[in-house]
Amino acid sequence: MKKTIQRRQFLKTAAAGAGLLILPSRIVFGANTPSNKLNIALIGAHGRATAHYDGLAKENVVAICDVNEEHLDLAAMKFPKAKRYVDWRKCVEQKDLDAVVCCTPDHVHAFVANWAMNRGLHVYCEKPVANTVEEARVVRATYLKHKDKLATQNGTQRHADENFNRIQEMIIDGAIGELKTVHAWGNRQLPRPGYLPAEGKPPKTLHFDLWLGPAPLHPYNPGYFSGQPGANCLQWNMYWDFGSGQVGDMGSHTMDLAWNALDADLPTAAEATGDPFNPEVTPVKMQATFQIPANTWRPAIGVTWYQGGAMPESPTGCVDLNKIDHGAMFQGSNGYLIASFKDRLLFPYGANTDMTYYKHRAADQLLPPVKNFQQEWIDACKGSLKTSCDFDYAGKMTEMMHLGLVAYRVGKPLQYDGAKGQVTNNADGDSLLRRQYRKGWTLNG
Ligand SMILES: NC(=O)c1ccc[n+]([C@@H]2O[C@H](COP(=O)([O-])OP(=O)(O)OC[C@H]3O[C@@H](n4cnc5c(N)ncnc54)[C@H](O)[C@@H]3O)[C@@H](O)[C@H]2O)c1
Repeated sequence: MKKTIQRRQFLKTAAAGAGLLILPSRIVFGANTPSNKLNIALIGAHGRATAHYDGLAKENVVAICDVNEEHLDLAAMKFPKAKRYVDWRKCVEQKDLDAVVCCTPDHVHAFVANWAMNRGLHVYCEKPVANTVEEARVVRATYLKHKDKLATQNGTQRHADENFNRIQEMIIDGAIGELKTVHAWGNRQLPRPGYLPAEGKPPKTLHFDLWLGPAPLHPYNPGYFSGQPGANCLQWNMYWDFGSGQVGDMGSHTMDLAWNALDADLPTAAEATGDPFNPEVTPVKMQATFQIPANTWRPAIGVTWYQGGAMPESPTGCVDLNKIDHGAMFQGSNGYLIASFKDRLLFPYGANTDMTYYKHRAADQLLPPVKNFQQEWIDACKGSLKTSCDFDYAGKMTEMMHLGLVAYRVGKPLQYDGAKGQVTNNADGDSLLRRQYRKGWTLNG
């Protein structure tokens, strides 16, 4: 442990360009010399992970972990020197690690993230960072405990799109006057009748019991594994035990477009409606509204998430919101700002639309660009520890989104105490903030 901490301290100091250091002879200075590269474990080593391969290849990938040994073989072609694991609990114990990149299915994200942070490892975790309200809270709390030593990033890489900064600036600078309500939506629809029935046996190369991990037992069915690499998540993310449907899928990205501009704390209330409840499958159509407390620059606001065909009303016949697959709309006292990931449309509206209220910042005050989202985390591990979507920022957003699913399941308005993480007016709602895990699996180990 002492050796690991010394090594990490060196990485940090070397990256910060510190002056005089007495170094062991094997250490060489330079931008990315062997000695200032991170030792990374890639957990969930194929599929979405391939999007990280090139960035990670600039560091030392010293461990790869996957429950599918065929996927380990594929990852080993890129990282031939890495040690192989099928169980992430053993992988995070490897002694020379500095950091973990987690690209597993959603139902183990919070487990891997907590275990890694508890072992002093920086974490990049694919979105969503958690699969329940409680998991989001525990990941956030673990991160906050270690935030002076660790860099974390939730995998919402669209956040680096320039539009995110421009929208945040426009809202704060008053382009639509005082912010009142916010809407975010996504139109992806993946209807499923229920968990897949038993079909065949898992191939010898697939450790299906480890794939289930902390989730309740379900029979094997090849359908869970039949998707294209990088999009296989669409084969399991609609089922409650493995994912959270559009809340965790595109909702992670699209709510981020809004959340980035809100400077928001946890909601005080939530209510939701949608498809009839199915105990096996998350809803296709749903909308959830949250009450977000005031902060120093805006009043309390309502934030609504819409999915699967539920949509906010357009303020004008000139704009068809349905043409924006995944978007956000900010309503203020003097107008609307409508956004997709790449575009934005400012629509002054109401009695006073002279724009004098818009205190547009000077060019030299614009928010600095996030150059490369994955690289931002790698640089943070070696120096500032600062990232755009750390587990505090993403943890709160994810907690809110999962609270929406709880409100949907209960079908009644919920009052929420964000400090304690409790639903205060509905015992059923409170019990749905967390899940039971299979024996032997510990969330915060
Ligand atoms: N940021 C994005 O734009 C983006 C895009 C696609 C997917 N994702 C996210 O990436 C994650 C993975 O999605 P995917 O489509 O690659 O899924 P997938 O089903 O292909 O799983 C990814 C890999 O993890 C392995 N795996 C499964 N369970 C594991 C476990 N317990 N331990 C170790 N390895 C395990 C699988 O064998 C596979 O190689 C999801 O959480 C998804 O939300 C993010």
